[in-house]
Amino acid sequence: MTVWVSQKDRRNGMHGLGGTGMGKSKLVTSMVIQDLSQRIPMRKDFEENIGVFVMAPDGDLLNDILVKIPKHRKNDVVLLDPLDIERPFPLNLFYCPDPTDPAIFELTVEQVISVFEKVFGMSEETPQLSEYAQAITRTLIGTPYTMIEIAHLLTNEGFRRQLVNPTSDFWMDYNAMQPKDQRQEYRTTIRRIRQLRDA
Ligand SMILES: Nc1ncnc2c1ncn2[C@@H]1O[C@H](COP(=O)(O)OP(=O)(O)O)[C@@H](O)[C@H]1O
Ligand SMILES: [Mg+2]
Repeated sequence: MTVWVSQKDRRNGMHGLGGTGMGKSKLVTSMVIQDLSQRIPMRKDFEENIGVFVMAPDGDLLNDILVKIPKHRKNDVVLLDPLDIERPFPLNLFYCPDPTDPAIFELTVEQVISVFEKVFGMSEETPQLSEYAQAITRTLIGTPYTMIEIAHLLTNEGFRRQLVNPTSDFWMDYNAMQPKDQRQEYRTTIRRIRQLRDA
């Protein structure tokens, strides 16, 4: 039996349920390979390849797909493997597509904060960490800096003054503190962030 699903329906989403061995992985593999093999007519005399993104928690599905990639698409494949320590890939948590647009900026802040909540167990019960996370996130979005520079931001006064909003209550308070008191406060924040960065 042949079943057809239009690209329009595919883009609307699909949900597959079934016990082990029912063919879920096989179905996903077939769909990915079919997409990679197709070309969509865009305009008269112009066709385009279809892009596919596969996210899989284990390697079996990916390996099945990789060995079936059509030859003419082999050079289009980008494999991001977090377990491949020889070829690590960077992820910038603070990446914002348009930091000058307040709505997009706020959306990025929200996304970063939700990662901090999931990864660091940050919540209303950790008010100091939350305050730091908010201030650091708002400072680093739209800069070339990432997680790596958080410690630098908190410990290096010259670096900090270049980046922070001088009218922010948080940074005014922070800059007014004695280095000894700053050290005591940022210690918790930095320890948690190192745990994530080095994980
Ligand atoms: N449409 C199909 N026709 C023939 N064999 C299939 C089909 N779908 C799956 N299989 C086979 O059944 C087995 C289990 O399929 P799989 O996709 O791994 O199941 P699931 O991911 O649901 O556990 C595999 O050996 C696969 O090759
Ligand atoms: Mg499976």
